[in-house]
Amino acid sequence: MTLQSQNAVAGEVTEDSKSGSMWSSRMAFVLAASGSAVGLGNIWKFPYITGENGGGAFVLMYLLCIAIVGIPIMIAEVMIGRRGGKSPLNSMRELVKLDRLSPRWKWLGGMGMLASFLILSFYSVIGGWALSYVGAAASGTFAGASTEAIGAMFGGLLADPKALLMWHSLFMILVIVIVSRGIRSGMEKAINILMPLLFVLLLVMVGYALSTDKFAEGFAFLFNPDLSKLTTEGMLTALGHAFFTLSLGMGVMMAYGSYLPKNVSLVKTAITVSVLDTAVALLAGLAIFPLVFANGLEPGAGPGLIFQTLPLAFSQMPGGVLFGTLFFALLVIAAVTSAISLLEPAVEWLTEHKGISRLTGTLIAGISVWLLGIVTVLSFNVWADVTPLAMFERFEGKTLFDLLDFATANVMMPLSGLFVALFVGWFMSRQAGEEQLALGNGLAYKSFMFVLRFVTPAAVLVVFVNNLM
Ligand code: PFF
Repeated sequence: MTLQSQNAVAGEVTEDSKSGSMWSSRMAFVLAASGSAVGLGNIWKFPYITGENGGGAFVLMYLLCIAIVGIPIMIAEVMIGRRGGKSPLNSMRELVKLDRLSPRWKWLGGMGMLASFLILSFYSVIGGWALSYVGAAASGTFAGASTEAIGAMFGGLLADPKALLMWHSLFMILVIVIVSRGIRSGMEKAINILMPLLFVLLLVMVGYALSTDKFAEGFAFLFNPDLSKLTTEGMLTALGHAFFTLSLGMGVMMAYGSYLPKNVSLVKTAITVSVLDTAVALLAGLAIFPLVFANGLEPGAGPGLIFQTLPLAFSQMPGGVLFGTLFFALLVIAAVTSAISLLEPAVEWLTEHKGISRLTGTLIAGISVWLLGIVTVLSFNVWADVTPLAMFERFEGKTLFDLLDFATANVMMPLSGLFVALFVGWFMSRQAGEEQLALGNGLAYKSFMFVLRFVTPAAVLVVFVNNLM
């Protein structure tokens, strides 16, 4: 998609092209925010958790969570960032002062920072898997390979802590170099070309899936909900994933919102980003599940799902080496643009301390994340049997990686999102809210506030409470 056509998604071509600066800033936001949102969550995590949770009913729950929880909270986060105009922690400080609220609200920023740190530690290991697959695809390893050979290749990678560590390190080095140079503006230009390319490539993969005789089965798996398959655990996973995939509850959207001009429609912009993000996830699902069924694989195979299915397509399709290499390269890039948004909050916070330069800050944060990443590296081999919470039935068999993922996506992100909704819905000044939303003070404004005050918090709470019982 070009700039113009992306803009056309939001239907603002003529107005925006008149005022150049606003146009580029809205685009800058959409690009940066989608760069953060679209990542491993869409292409790696969404298909595998959908497979583990039985398909259609889970997808329905996920879409519902995006609509009634994700989008309102994204809007609320961007509101805070745009009004505060600073880094998440300082924006919260600013708003608390302006509206004379308790300074304790700023802990919201702190929790997000901790979660982003924990997420990046495992995100980078999975990014490393994708990195290793770029080389594998380019060297023609997949060409003509059997299902068993491709499965064995993935199993071999997981069983080798040295290889995993090397790829994880390489991925972190990439992220550290980019963040330390603060060249995000350059990244935005790259995202503008690469994201549409990823989109097109996903369409090619869906096209390939269409050529198998199991497309209908894959489609039905995704979109034919069997409500009896939805567990309370699955509901929590869907909720958590809505946060994860939209990069919510981390302060990322607050940070990016701080450079969104006042006259840009926040609601439209948030919806654009969410729709793009959801489309990428659904396309990934449509590309993968027909392959799963066509090759007699297990939808609930877990985190390795895309690494065991997509190479099969590349092994069989014409131009598979080229498409495979390109696909994994774009996946790495999508992962890197998300990873930089995960490292940034910690770096920003560190550099706010005296005497810490951007480079030092990035190194401190990056190396700490890298060290913690070793826990995930070992979770797949040496520590595969280390399940510290196995005494609780629901955590039986969950490795340290599983627990990190669970604690961040299913607990920390929804909790901090809940507080963001409560803050903007109930505490922030009404006048400021009206100004930010620019929906007037009629029905549109009232409906949005109703959702943010009641529906969103209630949905999060219901899923939580249901899950605890
Ligand atoms: N949204 C990213 C993905 O779907 O891959 C992951 C992510 C990035 C989560 C940034 C949270 C975040 F703050």
